[in-house]
Amino acid sequence: MNTIYTASITKEKKSNQIILCSSVDELSSLSSEEKKYVSEQIENKNNPAHINKLSYNLFIYKIDTSDNENLVWEKARISASGVCGTINKLKLKDVSISGSVDKGVLTAFAEGLGLSNYQFLKYFSDADERRNSLETININGLTENELNDLNAVVSSTLVARDFVNEPLSYLTAEQYAHDILELGEDAGFSVDVFNKTKIQALKMGGLLAVNLGSPNPPTFSILEWKPENATNSKPFVLVGKGVVYDTGGVSLKPTANSMDYMKCDMGGSATVVGAMAAISKAKLPIHVIGLIPATENRPGGNAYVPGDVIYMHNGMTVEVLNTDAEGRMILADALSYARKYDPELVIDVATLTGSAARAIGDKAIVSMGNASQKVQDKLIESGYRTYERLAQFPFWDEYQEDLKSNVADLKNLGGPEAGMITAGKFLEYFTQDTETKKGYPYIHLDIAGPAYNHAKKNYRGIEGTGVGVRTLFDFFKNI
Ligand code: BES
Ligand code: ZN
Ligand code: ZN
Repeated sequence: MNTIYTASITKEKKSNQIILCSSVDELSSLSSEEKKYVSEQIENKNNPAHINKLSYNLFIYKIDTSDNENLVWEKARISASGVCGTINKLKLKDVSISGSVDKGVLTAFAEGLGLSNYQFLKYFSDADERRNSLETININGLTENELNDLNAVVSSTLVARDFVNEPLSYLTAEQYAHDILELGEDAGFSVDVFNKTKIQALKMGGLLAVNLGSPNPPTFSILEWKPENATNSKPFVLVGKGVVYDTGGVSLKPTANSMDYMKCDMGGSATVVGAMAAISKAKLPIHVIGLIPATENRPGGNAYVPGDVIYMHNGMTVEVLNTDAEGRMILADALSYARKYDPELVIDVATLTGSAARAIGDKAIVSMGNASQKVQDKLIESGYRTYERLAQFPFWDEYQEDLKSNVADLKNLGGPEAGMITAGKFLEYFTQDTETKKGYPYIHLDIAGPAYNHAKKNYRGIEGTGVGVRTLFDFFKNI
């Protein structure tokens, strides 16, 4: 694993101060002149206002109490990313966050600061000169447990970003599995990696078909967190798309420059790995399993081609009509494998379709599923709290019509419309018993839009965002 260059969040008091308040007048430590200056700055949208106290720096951030709570928190995270820039420009090493406001706002501000301070410097020769000065963030008023949870979720989101940011020249499927093993030792979850021979023995035809065009073998990693005090008897299962690079295969990607960022196509699995790390670091009392099918999608050698019919892990046959619809081929086998756990709920996360990104852009996660609406609403609520918002799409059986093949049980390509939904409906087949059609409760998250930023976007950063880690962690914390 490469090092994560972010600040750790501690209880130790530091000299530089960020004070959060709902009114500047309430700050008794400021002189009336300072209050006037701060109020003017904030009115001019310089919120937080900055005062150089010579021996230390003071930032005053005023929250708008008229906003709803989720937006108050999000504004705190965003404004923390602005402060992060100033702190590093001033070469400050540490900062303390305090104030007579709700714990949630303080936490959100610290979270935003921790996430904003992330850098991916591994490949720069002058990494040391580029490294941010900020090393420690102090936060007042949290319990040991709250602090631990905050550190767990921030550091694990950054682990997910690291994985997305790693190019194929480093992160092959085998390297990925190896790094997940190392992370598991550190975070506390166990890892079992299936190699190609084992994958062949399990007849994971979808994963093997996608892998055919690549010189590097596939892997299938199983991550597990099973504490003694788990409150669920049936496990939760998270499944993540681990396409370490997507060329489209022989149906080579048609969109100009879209291959430039296809190292991000394992983003769904990075979210699952990050969520598993956060859950186990925070020692949440739930039994969770993560499944990661991983491979490149390449047009080389013996690559699968349109027209091929593939025998999948669950025994169904799939006619391939576009090799660029590879995510569903490898996820289908993982979802079918998940049935052996008799899970309480399965959530998959994937950079699955361009249509999801076109429909809602980078502002939200496309969600759909057949789990009870109550459960789906829980996840949607978590998405509002973390501001990784979910937009729920329909999951009606009528969309299955687009998946009918002339020669096989299904084709891997839907019609020209609603591509994100036909992809989800394709996956649903593999969550069910092929005979009884009974399956486990299922939620599908398509993160093709928000997984990767082409330009820096506040605390969400540039390139890999680690989207979904905070939402899944919040969901499992509140279950
Ligand atoms: N990895 C892509 C989807 C994607 C697009 C991820 C943009 C991130 C950003 C996926 O494998 C893909 O190519 N999907 C095709 C499916 C189509 C051929 C049915 C798509 O969406 O165009
Ligand atoms: Zn593809
Ligand atoms: Zn893909």
